[in-house]
Amino acid sequence: MIKIDRKITDIIKRDRKVIMTTTRESYPFVPDHGDGDFIYDISGNKFIDFSSFISVYNFGVNANKEVREAIKKQVDKLMHPAFTDYYGELPVKFAEKLVKMFPSGFGKVFFSNSGTEANEAAMKFARIFTKRTYILAFYNSFHGRTLGSLGMTASKVVQREYFGPFANIVHAPFPYPYRCPFDHEQFECGMDYINFIENYIFRKEVSPEEIAAVFIEPVQGEGGYIVPPKKFITELRKITSEHGILLIDDEVQAGNFRTGKFLALDNFGVSADIYTMAKSVGAGIPIGLTVSRNSLGSIPAGAHANTFGGNLVAVSAANALLDYVTRNKTRIERGVKAKGAYAMKRLNEMKDKYEIIGDVRGIGLMIGVEIVKDKKSKAPGIKEREKILNDSFYNGLVLLPAGESSIRIIPPLTVADENLRKGLDIFENAVKKANSDKAV
Ligand SMILES: Cc1ncc(COP(=O)(O)O)c(C=O)c1O
Repeated sequence: MIKIDRKITDIIKRDRKVIMTTTRESYPFVPDHGDGDFIYDISGNKFIDFSSFISVYNFGVNANKEVREAIKKQVDKLMHPAFTDYYGELPVKFAEKLVKMFPSGFGKVFFSNSGTEANEAAMKFARIFTKRTYILAFYNSFHGRTLGSLGMTASKVVQREYFGPFANIVHAPFPYPYRCPFDHEQFECGMDYINFIENYIFRKEVSPEEIAAVFIEPVQGEGGYIVPPKKFITELRKITSEHGILLIDDEVQAGNFRTGKFLALDNFGVSADIYTMAKSVGAGIPIGLTVSRNSLGSIPAGAHANTFGGNLVAVSAANALLDYVTRNKTRIERGVKAKGAYAMKRLNEMKDKYEIIGDVRGIGLMIGVEIVKDKKSKAPGIKEREKILNDSFYNGLVLLPAGESSIRIIPPLTVADENLRKGLDIFENAVKKANSDKAV
C-alpha cells in the first residue's frame, strides 16, 4: 500500500502557490526516479507504470541505457546547433534513417519540440502546398493546445472555452462504435461518417476545393482511445485523394510501435500525405517531427522555422532510440502483439464479470477501457473511473484517464509479462471494488 507522507503533501501545497494550474490527476503522485517498468516517488513508494508517462516512455521509464548514454555524450559536445539557420550532421543522419520507417516517397522532415508544434507545422505546410485555407478535423480529436491545433482539438469543451475564435476549421463526427450517433439503417458503421462529410460538410458548409487537409488520429487518444472501422479510414483516404485534399496523420500518441506498427495508420492499409510525431520519439526529451511526401515539394525559405528544432540533445535521444527500435523491430512488433493480446483477453474477461466495464477496445498496447454506470444505460461512470484510478494508485499502479469515462492501458511496450500481469491484477481489484461499492 502506498503511503502519502509530509514530503509529498508539502510539495503539492507549494506547487499550488507557485505553479499555474494544468491538468493534473487527482492522486498525489510526485515521481522521483524510475527505470524500465517501475517508477518511484519522492518518498520511495514503488509503482508499476501503465501510463508510459502520457505515451512518452514507450520503451521503458526514463528511456533505456543506450539513449541515456547518447544524451550524456552529446551534452558535452554541443547542445544547440541553431539547426534552422545552420547545418548539422546528426539531424541529417537521423532524418535519413527516419524516412526509411515511412512509406516510400517520404523524404522531408521538419523538426520542432512538441506534438502541437508538429501539427502547427503540418497545418501551415498543407495550406501553402495546396493554397487552400480550410482544415477538417474530427470530434473527440486531440491535436494540441496552441491556437492552430487547438482549433482542431474537439475533445472537451474546457480545452477550448474562451480561447477562440478558431479560423477555417470544420469538424465531422469520428466513428465511435460504442456510442455511434447513427443508427446504421442505411449505411454500415464507418460509411455513415463518410456520408456525413460528403453530403453535409462538402455540400452545405465548405466546398472540398477549399479544404487543404483532413487531420486524423488513426486511433483517437485523449478523446477516449477510440478505434475507427477500417472502412472509414480507407474511404476517407479515397475522398481526400479525389478532391486533392491532403490527409494528415497525427501519430503523436498512437505512433512509434504503440499499436505494434511504427505507424498506427499502417493498421488500416493506407498512407497519409503528411505525418506528425512527438511524445515517445525522444524517449523523454522534447522533440516533434513533421514528415511530408517528397512530391509535395518544399516550402519557401523563411516561411516556417523555429529556434530549437533539431536541438542536438533531442536528436541524439531520438537517434539512439531509432537505432534501438530498428535493431529490435521484429522483437518489438511480436512483443506488442503478444502482450496486447494477453491484456485484451484479461480486460475482456473483466468486462464479462463487472457491470461497470462497458467497452474494451484497442490495437496492440494502446487499449482503452470505458467505465459506465451500467451496461444497459451506458451512462458514463465518471465517479467509478475516479475510484479505479485512485484505488490503483494507492495499490502501486499508475494509470491515466481518457475521454469522458475511459482509462488508458498503456504500459511501456517493453513491459515484462510478470509486471503486465501484476498491473492487471491491481486494476482488476480496483474495478471489483468500484463495482461492488456501486451495488451497495
Ligand atoms: C494525438 C496527439 N496529438 C498532439 C498532441 C499534443 O502534443 P504535445 O502535448 O506534445 O503538444 C497530443 C498530446 O497528448 C496527442 O495525443
